[in-house]
Amino acid sequence: MTNATHPFDALMDITARPRTVFVRGEGSFLWDDTGKRYLDFIQGWAVNCLGHSPPCVADAIAAQAKTLITASPAYYNAPSLMLAKALVEKSCFDQVFFANSGAEANEGAIKLARKYGALHKDGAFEIITFEGGFHGRTLATMSASGKKAFEPLFEPKVKGFPKARLNDIESVRALINRNTVAVMLEPIQGEAGVWPATDQFLRELRLLTREHGLLLIVDEIQTGMGRTGKLFHYEHAGIAPDIMTLGKGIGGGVPLAALLATEKASCFEHGDQGGTFNGNSLMCAAGLAVVEEVSRPEFLTSAADAGLFLESELQRLATRHGLGGVRGRGLLLALDLKLPIGATIVAQAFQAGLLLNSPQPDALRFMPALNVTRGEISQMIDGLDAILTKAGAARRVA
Ligand SMILES: Cc1ncc(COP(=O)(O)O)c(C=O)c1O
Repeated sequence: MTNATHPFDALMDITARPRTVFVRGEGSFLWDDTGKRYLDFIQGWAVNCLGHSPPCVADAIAAQAKTLITASPAYYNAPSLMLAKALVEKSCFDQVFFANSGAEANEGAIKLARKYGALHKDGAFEIITFEGGFHGRTLATMSASGKKAFEPLFEPKVKGFPKARLNDIESVRALINRNTVAVMLEPIQGEAGVWPATDQFLRELRLLTREHGLLLIVDEIQTGMGRTGKLFHYEHAGIAPDIMTLGKGIGGGVPLAALLATEKASCFEHGDQGGTFNGNSLMCAAGLAVVEEVSRPEFLTSAADAGLFLESELQRLATRHGLGGVRGRGLLLALDLKLPIGATIVAQAFQAGLLLNSPQPDALRFMPALNVTRGEISQMIDGLDAILTKAGAARRVA
């Protein structure tokens, strides 16, 4: 498609995108403006946890839009109070601040930790983060990230984010000094290619941070809201962090994120934090609909089952095509391709009407809707099987 059909050039060119325009979505499927249908195993990067345009979210938004879109962050509104209460009741945290993106929630977590350091730890401000970690694209969250490609960008970085190695507790211990206030990590490093922190490592981190009076911050923007088969990933390890951030799935597709903190860590004072759209009624009504659905025990069990089925089917493909292993948890999984063929597979899948993601050249990442069916998983596996078979044949010819 060209600029004559769609004004592509009017948008800043910030990433390579196929010249396709999507016009409709339903559940696990998207349609473009030519009527072509795509099976979506990206779901807006793990955003549409209930699939495309789920009726419960669409209805909540429509009803709220007709009632009150936003009053002002200077006043309370009912959906934000109800959503905060639901999140507090279902987690180990006591208070919530709503944001509009994951990066903004993480900025809030960084500010909250620094505030805690100023109030309780003699001005300590360093937050130990991890090589390979990803926390967003604002200046501070890029600095907190351990993504190699970010290293040369937008210098100078925000200081105070020394990097440890995932699953290496001694590398964390070695970085602790009198300026340290917190440790922050993704329980599964998504952008880096789906590399999980072990439950054992999370427990060790909790012990180590307690021992040194440090805050433990979990960035559950990708792993939260049922993505790994429990409402929040930290539950797998049986730990209680001090601060958690949520984004992506919590809005079911609309821009909503949250910063949660225990009573001890929740130390913002008036003027420290805020924003025009924070906690507006419209987004919080969507979030409430999502939380009510996703937190149902039967929903979480069936998402966990779907994750196990996807994992076993990917294992089967890996064996059949001589690929590497499958890693991740629940419905956040990666297939190790062993070769840098991720981008080629993604492009061929797109042609075949299958949306896949390759966060690293040698890996595919799968983050379907949490209510994806076995039939849809099988359909994706068959599509990928055909592409891998062709790629294998091409490799043999080459
Ligand atoms: C773990 C993690 N943290 C933070 C972010 C940033 O979220 P957003 O893109 O909504 O700013 C992402 C986005 O991919 C993420 O995966």
